[in-house]
Amino acid sequence: MIVSPANANRTAPPPKIVPLITEAEIHARVIALASEIAPRLQPGTVVVALLKGAFVFAADLLRELSRHELDINLDFMVLSSYGNDTRSSGRVLINLDCQKLVENRDVLLLDDILDSGNTLTFAVEHMRFKGAERILTCVLLDKPLRRQTAFQADFVGFTIPDLFVVGYGIDHAERFRELPFIGHLEE
Ligand code: IMP
Ligand code: MG
Repeated sequence: MIVSPANANRTAPPPKIVPLITEAEIHARVIALASEIAPRLQPGTVVVALLKGAFVFAADLLRELSRHELDINLDFMVLSSYGNDTRSSGRVLINLDCQKLVENRDVLLLDDILDSGNTLTFAVEHMRFKGAERILTCVLLDKPLRRQTAFQADFVGFTIPDLFVVGYGIDHAERFRELPFIGHLEE
């Protein structure tokens, strides 16, 4: 058998994923988060989920928020700062802006992970620039040890150590978003 570098790549064992937060733990925390958030939302709030990472979190959180009978809209924004690397490049780019008018409205920004803080610092500034009245932020995971800014989220699902995590919408080079739990890549 002739082994070329391309072949070798295809047969390389997949990175091992060590479970960190189970499906049941995520589910319970999302229900609790919705109860924390609901009383703080004004009617007409635009919930803006940052894609792609927050898509599973946003879907679950929105359905839990619906039990609180709120008047909210959902929109999305695609920002990127990582490329396929495991470190933030520090530069945040808008790949797709939100479509809803946020002027004079409250905005709840949802993201998967608060890491360096660059993405959410940028997103909050961007919403302010678009004329949002009040901006709240919610992240599923917070990695405070990695912060490069003074940013703090208003609502946090779980505070985790400095590990590169995947699953529940979160990827490494576009893989593992489909996992129902959160795990970290074995070092
Ligand atoms: P920040 O701008 O450094 O705060 O990074 C926020 C974004 O980086 C998140 O929305 C994720 O998309 C990505 N990110 C940060 N940490 C991780 C990780 O552990 N796994 C996968 N993506 C991550
Ligand atoms: Mg992201």
